[in-house]
Amino acid sequence: MACEERGIDSNTFLFITTISMAKRERFQTPAGMRDILPAEQRLWKLFAEYAASVGSSYGFERIDTPIVEFSDLFRKGTGEGTDIVQKEMFSFATKGGDELTLRPEGTPPVIRAYLEHGMEKWTLPVKLFYLGPMFRHEKPQAGRRRQLHQFGVESIGEGDPVRDVQVMQVFFAILSKLKITDVRMELNTIGCSTCRPKYVRALKEYYRNHLKQVCADCRVRYKTNPLRLLDCKDEKCQRVKVSAPQMLDYLCEECRNHFKGVLELLDAVEIPYMLNPHLVRGLDYYTRTVFEIFQGEVSADPLQDAQKRLALAGGGGYDGLVKMLGGKDTPAVGGAMGIERVLAIVAGRSQEEYEYPGRARVFIVQLGGMAKKRALVFMEELRGANIKAGEAFGRESITAQLKVANKMGADLAIILGQKEVLDNVAIIREMDTGSQEIIPMAKLLDEIKKRLKKKSA
Ligand code: HAM
Repeated sequence: MACEERGIDSNTFLFITTISMAKRERFQTPAGMRDILPAEQRLWKLFAEYAASVGSSYGFERIDTPIVEFSDLFRKGTGEGTDIVQKEMFSFATKGGDELTLRPEGTPPVIRAYLEHGMEKWTLPVKLFYLGPMFRHEKPQAGRRRQLHQFGVESIGEGDPVRDVQVMQVFFAILSKLKITDVRMELNTIGCSTCRPKYVRALKEYYRNHLKQVCADCRVRYKTNPLRLLDCKDEKCQRVKVSAPQMLDYLCEECRNHFKGVLELLDAVEIPYMLNPHLVRGLDYYTRTVFEIFQGEVSADPLQDAQKRLALAGGGGYDGLVKMLGGKDTPAVGGAMGIERVLAIVAGRSQEEYEYPGRARVFIVQLGGMAKKRALVFMEELRGANIKAGEAFGRESITAQLKVANKMGADLAIILGQKEVLDNVAIIREMDTGSQEIIPMAKLLDEIKKRLKKKSA
């Protein structure tokens, strides 16, 4: 209908349209960030509990640092020349004039905390783990988020190769608990401040003759951060990299021995690895061992593989960071795991594969108003006995309710109908076999406890 036919002029029409559009507008999460919905929370909780229990079994203790830190911590710690600092930080000025940044990674904050709380005086090594959100302004795509979550471990104060291997063991143990077995670890050493400069000179010499064949970013890296030339995902740069010199040929005696020690220990604990002589990491603080853990085999076409590679975890030594942030010369090593990437593998699997800590082991099925009331009262009794119970009060049919019980992974279902309420009994059903028995209400709680105990034994 034309505006004139409605009796309004075109400006008024535009105004009304804009208002009604604004009313209809729905907010969404910012790009690269997402909600973790109730249905996903079980897996997140499972990961957090597995990670914490593995971490503490290797002697790491939890630390939580603030989500924001002074921007300079990352400029100095992560490194001025890194992609994180150059392109990916969410930074802002506060009303008081401080320049803060949403943490893009956990290592500099942990070292800041180590120094701020005088942990240098604690028994070394200080072994800490953390779990929480990080923020990186990357191009959002599958496996790359702007709000990502990491589980990380840092072992500070001892330079023995055993510390490197212990960090790797933590990640392998978590993956194994989650039944992710098709993983491979790529390993390299990038030397130390004694031997690396010689290697970097050789690398620059090599790339000087290939500058026309690499991407524009790499021509900048050539000047600012030559080691990162090896980290470029561009296909033409990958081709140039194949014949580049390798750090292994330039190691000083100490770095060579350290790396040898790491390899021997990995063999001893039977952690499989592949040497990748061109593996470098995107952060500036690394020294000596660097590693990344991936799912699956290396593809037949290594160039294609390089572009698709998304590490589940990565880390390495960082012997200079404590000193750089104002402390003493202190060896350290650590790593972090991307929780979204790991859970993406597990999410498609049958949830029965996992033993969920804190899952509801008993499920109450009720039919009719009287039974619902009895169920509600009995659930309080269960709660008092510390037994978590599930329910689907909104569903009418017994089949629909048992389906939910199955999905929750309950061991027992307690079925209450009108007749059971009148007879003061309940039906107890073993969810795995389907066998059922009638039990007097007065004995029900004890019977549940007995059966659950037998199942846990
Ligand atoms: P990173 O390699 O930058 O290392 O990150 C560790 C892991 O976090 C990656 O392997 C990946 O699984 C995950 N990750 C990184 N960026 C994203 C993203 N945009 N979206 C989803 N997942 C992502 C560090 O952060 C170092 N602080 C690790 C470390 C600790 N090194 C020594 N100590």
